[in-house]
Amino acid sequence: MRVVAEEEEDMLPSTPGKVKIERAGAMTRQLHRCFASTGTMFLWALFLVAMTATYLSFHSFVDTSSRYFAASWGGLHWERQIRASASPRRPPGSAEGAGLSVLVTGAAGFVGTHCSLALRKRGDGVVGIDNFNKYYDPSLKKARRALLASHGVFVVEGDINDGRLLTKLFDVVPFTHVLHLAAQAGVRYAMENPASYVHSNIAGLVSLLEACKEADPQPAVVWASSSSVYGLNNAVPFSEAHRTDRPASLYAATKKAGEEITHTYNHIYGLSVTGLRFFTVYGPWGRPDMAYFSFTRNILQGKPITVYRGRDHVDLARDFTYIDDIVRGCLASLDTAGRSTGTGGRKRGPAPYRIFNLGNTAPVTVPTLVSILERYLRVNAKRNVVEMPGNGDVPFTHANISLAREQLGYKPTTSLEMGLKKFVRWYLSYYGYNRGTQAFNNL
Ligand SMILES: NC(=O)c1ccc[n+]([C@@H]2O[C@H](COP(=O)([O-])OP(=O)(O)OC[C@H]3O[C@@H](n4cnc5c(N)ncnc54)[C@H](O)[C@@H]3O)[C@@H](O)[C@H]2O)c1
Ligand SMILES: *[C@@H]1O[C@H](CO)[C@@H](O)[C@H](O)[C@H]1NC(C)=O
Repeated sequence: MRVVAEEEEDMLPSTPGKVKIERAGAMTRQLHRCFASTGTMFLWALFLVAMTATYLSFHSFVDTSSRYFAASWGGLHWERQIRASASPRRPPGSAEGAGLSVLVTGAAGFVGTHCSLALRKRGDGVVGIDNFNKYYDPSLKKARRALLASHGVFVVEGDINDGRLLTKLFDVVPFTHVLHLAAQAGVRYAMENPASYVHSNIAGLVSLLEACKEADPQPAVVWASSSSVYGLNNAVPFSEAHRTDRPASLYAATKKAGEEITHTYNHIYGLSVTGLRFFTVYGPWGRPDMAYFSFTRNILQGKPITVYRGRDHVDLARDFTYIDDIVRGCLASLDTAGRSTGTGGRKRGPAPYRIFNLGNTAPVTVPTLVSILERYLRVNAKRNVVEMPGNGDVPFTHANISLAREQLGYKPTTSLEMGLKKFVRWYLSYYGYNRGTQAFNNL
């Protein structure tokens, strides 16, 4: 038990706070020696300052640790819920083969919700995990969780850095696959809160891979990388073989690191790994921090939108990919993922390591995106066109998807025009716009 407690302490981001406490104590002693001749009033004041410092550092320690691992889990009822959610409804002898049992991380997220639903609908077992962080409105994440619950998918509230929770989940369920989508997303936010990227995309990834390599049987891992790994690459369309060693943002750098970290686990422990480089995914239940979403909100509220433009007045362009196409790519990746080969933390033979672009191969400029939205919403946008600041965004993305087409049968079918229509319809109904409004009549 003692060992467990020590390990836990190591994992918690509490050590800096503790160091501070010790330092504060040492400082008080030193100062005490220097000013021994001055009055007791001064010493009392010093003592008070030290106490306040100690209190504050302790407070921040309690704050951070509880923010990371506040979730409650465990118990017989909880285990029963996990098992029920993880059981495939496809019998082993059915035409599509035996059902999968998938642990989906980031299940209350945009892509995680859609993938979990799609898996459940075709009869696979799904258990989700999500820490419901406040990067964007958590009520949207809770609404997605409620949607999943209504389809029999249970989402555990917990952090992928919580190794004990992951071990418990693998003890309860022999997952065949892990679909790892939990991450700190967003390019610009990395300048505001870099630590959150390291926490979820680096430390969290390693924590998850540790649990996967220890699990018996080991699951096959499919996870979300990003088109942002292409960074300063300007050979188009972006191919898996192109350079990815020049990231333009910390977000991109953590995704690139993820590709290399997963490679290590594939190489040493025989984990089957598939990395998917998503290209700007959009659709119903999407992410409020993304441009198409915030544009829609601002246009409807009559607020101006900021449209970035690249150098020399070149419009930014993105290879927008509709969520249903991404879901098909994720499920095809799970279905074609070869087995992991390790047991007891040791490799028994080589396991597959794959990387695929999942894009639409039809880049659209941001002004075109805005005009499609204007048409569906029947409101003219107030555009505020500004030069793109050097914040990590790249001027354009364009996927070469021939590898995914060949090996996964991936074939995106939704144009931005079609996809945005579905997004706007969802947006208006979710945020309670009247069906009698002009915008609704237009859809
Ligand atoms: N949406 C896109 O355009 C896009 C593009 C490229 C890559 N991706 C990647 O795809 C994946 C899914 O993206 P999304 O758009 O659904 O984002 P999302 O933010 O909606 O979903 C991620 C979910 O993970 C959860 N999460 C974050 N850190 C966690 C942690 N430490 N422990 C447990 N849960 C945690 C969040 O609460 C969130 O619900 C991410 O890995 C993202 O980086 C997305
Ligand atoms: C796309 O990538 C494939 C390799 O996966 C390559 O053979 C093909 O030439 C590329 N297409 C273009 C247009 O660059």
